[in-house]
Amino acid sequence: MVSEQKRILTGIRPTGPLHLGHYVGALENWVKLQKEYECFFLIANYQVADYVDQLDVINESIIEVATDWLAVGLDPESSHFTVESLVPEHAELSMWLSWFIQLGRLQRNPTLKSEIDALGNKPVSLAFFNYPILQVANILMPKAHLVPVGEDQLPHIEMTREIARKINKLAGHELFPIPKGLVGRVPRLVGINGPDAKMSKSADNAIYLKDDEETVKKKIMKMYTDPSRIHATDPGKVEGNPVFIYHDAFNTNTDEVKDLKERYTNGTVGDVEVKTKLFDAINAFLLPIRDERNKYAQNKKIVKEFLQQGSSHSSQVAKETMQELKSALNLGY
Ligand code: TRP
Repeated sequence: MVSEQKRILTGIRPTGPLHLGHYVGALENWVKLQKEYECFFLIANYQVADYVDQLDVINESIIEVATDWLAVGLDPESSHFTVESLVPEHAELSMWLSWFIQLGRLQRNPTLKSEIDALGNKPVSLAFFNYPILQVANILMPKAHLVPVGEDQLPHIEMTREIARKINKLAGHELFPIPKGLVGRVPRLVGINGPDAKMSKSADNAIYLKDDEETVKKKIMKMYTDPSRIHATDPGKVEGNPVFIYHDAFNTNTDEVKDLKERYTNGTVGDVEVKTKLFDAINAFLLPIRDERNKYAQNKKIVKEFLQQGSSHSSQVAKETMQELKSALNLGY
């Protein structure tokens, strides 16, 4: 039976455990939308060329990411947890798709540009340069309609739309839906070390979903606030202050947040109180996630089974898409 539901494909690179930024930027939407859409959640282990000397980290992270997904409530029975390399059609599709994108177009992709800049002096592999095309292949493979992601991924979705349009035109019918991006309620959560950098593993400024209570407390207590405020009696700045950005994102007691902001602005509350209340809020948010996570962390076998099961379904879908594409464009021999 052909599924009536529209489809989501979205993914994550398996470079480490997931953090609060992933949650409010994307994961929260995945959890919400999984009943409404048929979801393909992908672990993009072809797209980690900059980790070539740390592949043990990558392989361990595949399980970590899937465990985090289960912890936040993604359902592996109704959604398809997929490991990219278990569906090698992704590689084949990205090869065909690279026919439809100009080199200059890739070079102008702002996300790719800034990621390459961030590599500093490290040489850039062709695979790194090419990963947005793999991502386009990931999205087109299950003919996704919607791609819930963090803000930085939108340029890749724009490329997907362009390529899908070109192929549809050549095919003479709508082979691929034109997918839309969807960004979460906090598109770019700042890190604990200040308002300039987004939360990320590489910047070492993240609170992880798997962090225990003590770790979360330590991280929050040493969080960056308003650097120009020395004493609790100094009027402080709320705007752009990570502690208040997190209060807004995670503290469900809006009256408390309003009160803290007022007192902070007037210089009648100390950092310790603001941070302690933030810890309470974040800890309450993480508690059920942590409990659920512990269950699966002790049972890696079942996590691996979910990945096998989802990938095997995605393989079927991939084979169908490849057939259709090849016959529509007369590709291959
Ligand atoms: N590039 C994405 C990131 O770094 C991960 C990703 C891979 C992805 N394939 C995808 C996201 C397909 C959306 C759709 O976060």
